[in-house]
Amino acid sequence: MKYIDMGDIKASRLMLGCMRIADKPIKNIERLISSALGMGINAFDNADIYGGGTCEIKFGKALKNLKIARDKTVIQTKCGICGGMYDLSYDHIIRSVNGSLDRLGTDYIDILLLHRPDTLMRPENIARAFDDLYSSGKVRAFGVSNFSAQQTDLIQTYTDKKIYVDQLQLSPTHCPIIDYGINVNTLNSGAYDTSGGVLEYCRKNKITIQAYGVMQCAFTDETGYFYSGSYTTEHAKKKYFALNYTLEGIARKYGTTPEAVAVAWLLYHPADMQAIVGTTLDKHLKAFEDCCEVSLTRYEWYEIFRSAGHTLP
Ligand SMILES: NC(=O)c1ccc[n+]([C@@H]2O[C@H](COP(=O)([O-])OP(=O)(O)OC[C@H]3O[C@@H](n4cnc5c(N)ncnc54)[C@H](OP(=O)(O)O)[C@@H]3O)[C@@H](O)[C@H]2O)c1
Repeated sequence: MKYIDMGDIKASRLMLGCMRIADKPIKNIERLISSALGMGINAFDNADIYGGGTCEIKFGKALKNLKIARDKTVIQTKCGICGGMYDLSYDHIIRSVNGSLDRLGTDYIDILLLHRPDTLMRPENIARAFDDLYSSGKVRAFGVSNFSAQQTDLIQTYTDKKIYVDQLQLSPTHCPIIDYGINVNTLNSGAYDTSGGVLEYCRKNKITIQAYGVMQCAFTDETGYFYSGSYTTEHAKKKYFALNYTLEGIARKYGTTPEAVAVAWLLYHPADMQAIVGTTLDKHLKAFEDCCEVSLTRYEWYEIFRSAGHTLP
């Protein structure tokens, strides 16, 4: 495993996401967390809304049952989605963090992310919330998620707390934040930038992009279904034939799995990203084990990009 420094926090480059654990038996969650720790994964992603709070509760309970020392884990959670809308007001941020601390059964959160941009947010109030949470010892570090470059810049202008993270959907099948930079000044569909140049902004300002949905076909599938599952599974193989063919070929060459290669594709990028995997199964998690060890060639990186259906001008 490789790690990344965020101030005095050392977080694994492969993270385990806890969005899907709400209905899983606690023993299975304990097994999943044990496997993650065994692979060197120390960073775990959660949110106040996952499973209506159940994911944080079950995650906290599993850590307690496993008797894992608090300083062996980097616990990240998020706030700001509320009742199907967005609320980044001072009161909501503070209330949400207090709720997360209770549910997780911990005294502090390592990294707090603002889950989605709230167009009604007042950056001076967010800065005040960050100050109060930091000085009370409830949160050690801050970040954002699904924010554009300009939105992150707006928050950073008002706070002296560094924004360490922007968590964004990113995978070979869904990579507009990479695609636009390859298709600059073309009329190709990939040239369409909805992020305000977030990749370059994060690189310039040493903000870690945390890729989520790394195994997802896309944000929604053709029927509009939200997050329909991994492109490496049988049902998606026909649609993503070229991508799977490429991943499998590269995996054979390195003696590893297509899943590890898919994550290696993200970690190869010089932006020094983290990748969050959201599997709930121990055996699926193990498929990612080699992701930090596989060093792709530049040619392989572009071949994966192209075989996922993207254009090189
Ligand atoms: N910031 C945001 O707005 C946001 C949004 C969504 C997610 N997230 C975070 O990112 C994490 C990951 O998101 P995600 O769960 O959508 O992403 P994901 O890891 O790309 O997808 C997980 C899905 O793919 C399947 N899968 C994963 N690994 C597999 C493997 N090796 N073989 C076969 N199937 C596999 C999983 O099923 P199995 O459980 O059966 O393996 C699950 O259905 C979440 O837990 C959450 O922490 C953040």
